[in-house]
Amino acid sequence: MKKTINYIRKQIYEYNPKIAIVLGSGLGELADEYGEVFMPYSKIPGFPQSSVPGHKGQLVLAKISGKDVLMMQGRCHYYEGHSMEEITYPIKVFKKLGIENVILTNAAGAVNKAYNPGDIMIISDHINFMGTNPLIGENDEELGVRFPDMTEVYSKKLIKLAQAAAKYLQITLRQGVYIAMTGPSYETPAEINMARVMGADAVGMSTVPEAIVANYCSMNVLGLSCISNYASGVSNKTLTHQEVIEVTGRTQKIFKELVLYIINNIHLAQ
Ligand code: HPA
Repeated sequence: MKKTINYIRKQIYEYNPKIAIVLGSGLGELADEYGEVFMPYSKIPGFPQSSVPGHKGQLVLAKISGKDVLMMQGRCHYYEGHSMEEITYPIKVFKKLGIENVILTNAAGAVNKAYNPGDIMIISDHINFMGTNPLIGENDEELGVRFPDMTEVYSKKLIKLAQAAAKYLQITLRQGVYIAMTGPSYETPAEINMARVMGADAVGMSTVPEAIVANYCSMNVLGLSCISNYASGVSNKTLTHQEVIEVTGRTQKIFKELVLYIINNIHLAQ
């Protein structure tokens, strides 16, 4: 961890980011547009590497209206064979670098039948259906407590700010529960019916481990899902990663405006 922090600090010594964003599948444009320092994960000591198409795999320091923002352009997933500890390592790095707000983004399938591809959903809460927990193992008391409370993983203040952003930008935002599955196979229609009965609105293969660790580390978390497809059985189409990338790509413009507004006004949510 010391080596990781030293390497990153050296690269961004002129900056002092308090906000970090994890950019999911097909949502990397913000980093391309506003990035000033680019750190490929392969160069950062201890950083896990991602191999998923649509995920670039670099840490980017960006400057957005005067604010320094640390961005992960692509993330690691549990289904790639990384451990839970590995995929949430960057979140602990954020904490040690002084980050206070973490925006987690992803592409997700619509479980809620009223949702459509192209919608953006604020994550109000989640269901961890991955069958494991990133905090299993010895606890680092410096980061957080052994049994962290989970009643407000997603900051109510950041959710309010996202709602205000949507109102200002005149876009409709959904708000709902995200359920995390391990993947990499997409779900069966029976599994999606189960998810709906359990109270889920959107389904994906990421975000929840990171949200658990960020909450444990006392950072404010905002979760945004780009709905990229109807989940299995909601429509009679089959699912492909290509479709996920295409739809999130098309949603990026609105998504970017939303994130820019939130960054500009983040002081209102502290
Ligand atoms: N299921 C799981 N993960 C996903 C989906 C889905 O339908 N769409 C995007 N990520």
